[in-house]
Amino acid sequence: MSERHFVSGLSSDDETTFALIGAIQEHTKIPLDELLKSFGEYWIKYASETSYGGMMKMAGNDLVSLLSNLDRMHVGIAAQMPGASMPSFEVLDASDTQIKIRYRSERDGLEAFVVGLLQGLLNRFNDFGEIRYIINADFSDFTIVRSVEKVPA
Ligand code: HEM
Repeated sequence: MSERHFVSGLSSDDETTFALIGAIQEHTKIPLDELLKSFGEYWIKYASETSYGGMMKMAGNDLVSLLSNLDRMHVGIAAQMPGASMPSFEVLDASDTQIKIRYRSERDGLEAFVVGLLQGLLNRFNDFGEIRYIINADFSDFTIVRSVEKVPA
């Protein structure tokens, strides 16, 4: 599990999850970030098509609404999951050209997973954009750039 140090977990459940990811990575030789991104994208498709579909629909009919409602949704789920550690997403800014989102988590190293989730959501709403992020000490800021040429460098 050569890249295991990139992801640090909280609970023994996390240990198991990350050990599994490490094993898949070792077996497939797919870089960790790529695996996490694929899994995030897959999860949105999976959630939309299974019993979580209703929850996804209720959360919002467009990307910004859904992102704005995510914390409420996760808190609701956490109430029935003792020991769960939910992420937090704050929409900092939303315009025609870009969406800025602040992601907070007690876990480190899941940014590529978030990229996949955001890509999955873009796919879900037939929306488009380039996803960028900057990792800070206590949070990571994601930008979905919808129109690359209109945004100043
Ligand atoms: C119906 C849909 C969804 C359900 C049922 C759901 C549920 C959950 C659950 C149970 C966890 C694990 C918490 C734990 O065990 O400690 C989790 C984590 C997470 N969820 Fe969701 N979620 C949903 C949709 C989303 C969406 C749309 C996003 C988009 C950004 C998202 C982002 C995340 C992230 C990033 C984590 C990782 C935890 C962390 O960062 O520490 N989830 N979610």
